[in-house]
Amino acid sequence: MAPWTSSSPPVMALAVALMLCGLPAGALPVSPDVDRCVNGDHTLKCCPTPSGKQIIDFTQPPPPTTLRVRRPAHSLNPKAAANYAKAIAAMRELPPDHPWNFLQQSNVHCAYCSGGHRQAGTNISLEIHGSWLFFPWHRAYLYFYERILGKLAGDPSFALPFWNWDHPDGMSVPAIYRDPSSPLYNPTRYPQTLNFTNIGCEGDVGKGLEKQKQCNLRLMHRQFAAASDTAELFLGGQYRKGDTDAPGGGVLEGVPHNPIHVSTGSDMSLLRTSGRDPLFIAHHANMDRLWSIWQSTSGGGRTKSFHDPDFLNASFVFWDENMQRVRIRVRDCIDARMQLNYYYEDVPNLWLNMKTEVEQVVADNRMRPRSIEPEVNFPAVLGSSITVEVRRTPGVEGQKLIVGGIEFDRGAKVWFDVYVGSARGDGRRVTARAAAGCFVHMWSSAGASEGSTMSTELRLGIREFVEAIGAAGDDTVVVTLVPKIGGDMVTIGRVWIE
Ligand code: C2O
Repeated sequence: MAPWTSSSPPVMALAVALMLCGLPAGALPVSPDVDRCVNGDHTLKCCPTPSGKQIIDFTQPPPPTTLRVRRPAHSLNPKAAANYAKAIAAMRELPPDHPWNFLQQSNVHCAYCSGGHRQAGTNISLEIHGSWLFFPWHRAYLYFYERILGKLAGDPSFALPFWNWDHPDGMSVPAIYRDPSSPLYNPTRYPQTLNFTNIGCEGDVGKGLEKQKQCNLRLMHRQFAAASDTAELFLGGQYRKGDTDAPGGGVLEGVPHNPIHVSTGSDMSLLRTSGRDPLFIAHHANMDRLWSIWQSTSGGGRTKSFHDPDFLNASFVFWDENMQRVRIRVRDCIDARMQLNYYYEDVPNLWLNMKTEVEQVVADNRMRPRSIEPEVNFPAVLGSSITVEVRRTPGVEGQKLIVGGIEFDRGAKVWFDVYVGSARGDGRRVTARAAAGCFVHMWSSAGASEGSTMSTELRLGIREFVEAIGAAGDDTVVVTLVPKIGGDMVTIGRVWIE
């Protein structure tokens, strides 16, 4: 069972070595050998029913007269909601081995992430989380899912609803999913999180609903800002044929995507079972919407995609609404509206233009950097906060902060926050700081074997935070790591900016 996030120092070291030798680090794009699927050691057998059916290449659908419009689940009109429920019911009623059957469809997700499918031409399993495959794979999956539902509903403009958990009105499990007699219901959801979806705001729990919602909005703003500057920060690290581990996902895959899974319910909290809750689709429609928002927001000449052929030519295979097996490439699903004929209803993204909050620190000795970089003995255990002054080059675009060599037992629950601050004057005191992101690993039950060490890194874009604290012209910033859960179980290898 693959973990939610992982990284592989040996693979990365090899890539670095290849680059140093002047050889291209690029290998080939990944593609699944869908006919070679391995049911893992868990009891859930999610490999698809074997099919001899030939695989055809995806072709762009002809432009329809009306585009599909995905709308927020919490405000779906009753007719659309009934339509949606009916289509899901029809999916559930199909014969168990029908490729459109509800469980077969949920198993498609499972097989792509639980060590199921091999990468074509290798014995290595294909993992669609924790890398640049994350957004495109889920976009393609939802695309076919939506068209199958549309077919079942007899509605060619049928569109999936999205769970608008980044808007105050959408920060709970939407009503249409909560009726136990509805096909949209899933009995494994946690009652304590039904009425408020904490998208990753541990801090303000218990301070009242309004405060918690504001905290979600601030977190959304911060995570989006940290994800915004480069394709790697938003989409995730490079992953090519032959890579044994995913290199680490984009900022938003880490938070809020992962915590929402884990806090929603037991099916939702595991990669392999999450597709069994219809909320999964709505959750991912919202993630997909965030991708579209990122693509359409302007910003300092930033790159909106990877142009690497190993990204663009990576491919996946799905059943489509005509009962064909279709190979779709990442290049086919970069632009939802132009290539896939759907878009998201415009809703207010209250977090988008928020301002980074800056804590001004006045003569507070606790905020003083304990020591500067050469004096922190890395690797260091995060038993209490670590504060370190880190070099940066003013004026360089797309810089990211990397907390590297994060190591802990896969079974541990880990959460730490990251702040960037400016050091000024006498005693190199931190005078201002801003929250820049957090690292969350909560998947002790995700099936990863306990007792093995997880080694990964956190990458955050810090441009906006550095500007907010007035340190844009400084050649250092002060980075503080604050443990919230399981700090003494975590080792930090190094902190740097590149
Ligand atoms: Cu494929 Cu939300 O995970």
